[in-house]
Amino acid sequence: MNDNRPIIAANWKMYKTPQEGHQFAQELAIKALNLTGVRFILFPSATGLFHILEALKDSSVEFGGQNMHSASEGAFTGETSASMLLACGCRWVIIGHSERRHIFHETDADLCAKIPAALDAGLNVILCIGELLEERQAGSTEEVLRQQLQDDLAGMESFPVERLVIAYEPVWAIGTGVVATPEQAGEAHARVRVILQELFPDLPVERVRILYGGSVKSANAAQLIKIPGIDGFLIGGASLDIDQYVKIAEISQIETKVKL
Ligand code: 13P
Repeated sequence: MNDNRPIIAANWKMYKTPQEGHQFAQELAIKALNLTGVRFILFPSATGLFHILEALKDSSVEFGGQNMHSASEGAFTGETSASMLLACGCRWVIIGHSERRHIFHETDADLCAKIPAALDAGLNVILCIGELLEERQAGSTEEVLRQQLQDDLAGMESFPVERLVIAYEPVWAIGTGVVATPEQAGEAHARVRVILQELFPDLPVERVRILYGGSVKSANAAQLIKIPGIDGFLIGGASLDIDQYVKIAEISQIETKVKL
């Protein structure tokens, strides 16, 4: 069945020890019982995955890895494979986060190898895309989004709509406190749908889940989630605080009921 509840995903980046993550997940598992109108997904660092599995064993809260290697195994020091993530209970993986692209120099070719590797292994994917400030200022946002989607999804015959989620994360809004306006985010999400339709003519593009990420807080969540085409959030800083994170989920649950 098509699950169209807003996805409220927490990207913890390189924050929280396994113990801190465990405590957060235990508290969230209780709070999530009253928030069945949203879908929670936690992305702790790889070292915390097993603790999260333990904390969430009877919970509807999902979790995943922040990155993975495209190979199933091998001499790749410091890397994690899809089967290792699955063995820790992950159902999800983030691929192509802007920090992976810009700090660790992952290329679209790298990401293009990772996406089918993750899907084939049985993981669902959140693929992150987004433009730099200078690209937006140069008026090339649409071109950047098109190039990323085209190159990252190259070779895929179909778009598995239930298992592949897009996160639009303008790089200038990540960790800066500068959030995209509802108009900017809404327009980018609409563009992404148009581009996906061009790439996959048979895709029921209205069913693709597109998350917004970049300085999402409880103070701006309502205005963003109200926008048609924004199907949830990928949250960094504000997801580290359980009260902020749950507040964003509560707001999303209420506003989505109004939107439907
Ligand atoms: P912030 O919410 O801290 O801006 O981070 C967004 C992000 O990168 C989520 O993946």
